[in-house]
Amino acid sequence: MTIIDGKAVAEEIKKEIGAEVEAIKVSGGKIPHLVAILVGNNGASETYVANKVKSCEELGFNSTLLRFDPSISEAELLAEVQKVNNNEDMDGLIVQLPLPDHINPDKVMETIDPKKDVDGFHPINIGRMAKGLPAYISATPQGVLDLLERYNIETSGKHCVVVGRSQIVGLPMSILMQRNHKVGNCTVTLTHSKTKNLAEVCASADILIAALGRPEFITADFIKEGAVVIDVGLTRVEDATKKSGFALKGDVKFDEVAPKCSFITPVPKGVGPMTIVSLMKNTLLSAKGLIY
Ligand code: GUN
Repeated sequence: MTIIDGKAVAEEIKKEIGAEVEAIKVSGGKIPHLVAILVGNNGASETYVANKVKSCEELGFNSTLLRFDPSISEAELLAEVQKVNNNEDMDGLIVQLPLPDHINPDKVMETIDPKKDVDGFHPINIGRMAKGLPAYISATPQGVLDLLERYNIETSGKHCVVVGRSQIVGLPMSILMQRNHKVGNCTVTLTHSKTKNLAEVCASADILIAALGRPEFITADFIKEGAVVIDVGLTRVEDATKKSGFALKGDVKFDEVAPKCSFITPVPKGVGPMTIVSLMKNTLLSAKGLIY
């Protein structure tokens, strides 16, 4: 059994991106510029956005953080998105989710210029991805593909079961794993809260991708001997023994599942570190004009 070291792979890719940015600087090319919009002060969102800004600094990107009070109206926020769309120096824009209840996230995503949608959430990017056209692939699914590729895990002809149909992870993951690509060509089953006999379906998976957001839901009886298990879950669970007051838990009960696997990602230091790196990769692709 191999524990997939997402942190090490993320560091490797960061070095590659950093070297590209250095070369861009030397040649006087366009330095990637990522803009993050944060509405309100949700604790997890604060952490995620701070990490994205920090990664920009580490890699030599320019970054801009636009913060707004949770009372901002939907129309005002859409106008702020348009300003970024119209700013030629800004290559990528992410609007951190969740948004306050009075703002429709779909409207916001659809207002972002698809050419700057480095989160890959715009329907045009999702549609282009589904058609196999160049598109921004959302960061977490791209991170999973990179982990499978860098660990040389064979996917062709395998049965991949994805648990969870979220727009951000489960749905795009299911589309990506069936594509005719180097990492792809799986027979995919996308499962969700209405799936019958979930444990049985999962136990037929050669590759199980858990993205349902329920801590330690996937237990040993869900796992076929020798399976590859990718745990995308990341839930804050109260833990008085931690300084922060919470622990991060994956969707997989690691200790009992790991002995049955050929490969498994831990939480933390599995898929998590790959997500930001993928976002940075998309921003670099945008600055280089390689998708559109
Ligand atoms: N909230 C949780 N994950 C994400 C993400 O990948 N992008 C954005 N914009 N918001 C999120």
